[in-house]
Amino acid sequence: MNAPEVRLEDLPLREDLRGRSPYGAPQLDVPVRLNTNENPYPPPRALVEDVTAAVREVAARLHRYPDRDAVGLRRDLARYLTATTGVPLSERNLWAANGSNEILQQVLQAFGGPGRTALGFEPSYSMHPIISAGTRTEWAPTPRRADFSLDTVRAAEIVAQRRPDVVFITSPNNPTGGSIPLSEVELILRQAPGIVVVDEAYAEFSSQRSAVELLAAHPAKLIVSRTMSKAFAFAGGRLGYLAAAPAVVDALQLVRLPYHLSLLTQAAASAALRHADATLASVAKLAAERDRVAEALLGLGFTPVPSDANFILFGAFTDVKASWQSYLDNGVLIRDVGIAGHLRVTIGTPEENDVFLTASKEVPR
Ligand SMILES: Cc1ncc(COP(=O)(O)O)c(C=O)c1O
Repeated sequence: MNAPEVRLEDLPLREDLRGRSPYGAPQLDVPVRLNTNENPYPPPRALVEDVTAAVREVAARLHRYPDRDAVGLRRDLARYLTATTGVPLSERNLWAANGSNEILQQVLQAFGGPGRTALGFEPSYSMHPIISAGTRTEWAPTPRRADFSLDTVRAAEIVAQRRPDVVFITSPNNPTGGSIPLSEVELILRQAPGIVVVDEAYAEFSSQRSAVELLAAHPAKLIVSRTMSKAFAFAGGRLGYLAAAPAVVDALQLVRLPYHLSLLTQAAASAALRHADATLASVAKLAAERDRVAEALLGLGFTPVPSDANFILFGAFTDVKASWQSYLDNGVLIRDVGIAGHLRVTIGTPEENDVFLTASKEVPR
């Protein structure tokens, strides 16, 4: 195109979006990629074959729209959650979308929006404020303790005072790694006047029980958000989901786009779910590696933050950007999450973790 380049500043963009930064974890082609908390193990061969067969089968029907309500997939997700949490759930309790980011966006479209507020305990997942901005929901950041743990008694008091329409509790928390017990989730739930989203993207790695267990007691408030992007080794498939009361699922129908989940996505995700046991066999290995890496970092004089997930936030660095670059120069991509003095590393295969630990020996601090 020969037309002169138009700059972002020249566009009639919404005023409240001017000057904001998009989500932007670097996607670089380096040997060891430990920056976006995926499962480092590729899907088992039987899963790949089953997904391929499922996609081949539905390909003959691509001229038609998919099931708008994704009932079959939601039934499969309900079965998985019931099996892993012991809480009886049906497809009426489940909703699915293209990654849990889309789930969170639909939740804020329905329960946030102009004149409404969402509150989160920072540092936490960077997309919570970004999706709030996109849906014109006012963001109310509330600090964690200096050691990144959550003072839930204080948090419940703040929620009672500020009365946000939506509260985000991320457990295990990204990027700090800690999780909180259900009794503490409930302290906040009791004080919240509106919706409480427990973002459990890393639940499969956690030693805590799922907030799904609290749904029966708090049906009008609680949404538990999950993803197949992490433990489930399905980040490329883009499938997130939530568990909630059927009325919450009904509310989301008001904002979701028709046919948002493609025929291919629904078929592939259902096929992947049939192999849950094989995929999740890597979780114990990754948790053991996490503990090994944390121990090794301690031994090297770093300060890893205790993690219940598949990543570790660690310090202390004087020049975070220079240290991040030093890792990259050694072929290891980790994450600068914007926390002073700290970097975050995703747990990889033992070989990848060894490359990371070797690079850690010479990184400037
Ligand atoms: C806490 C948390 N929630 C949600 C997500 C979104 O994941 P996805 O959209 O791939 O399901 C992530 C991804 O990093 C995350 O860390």
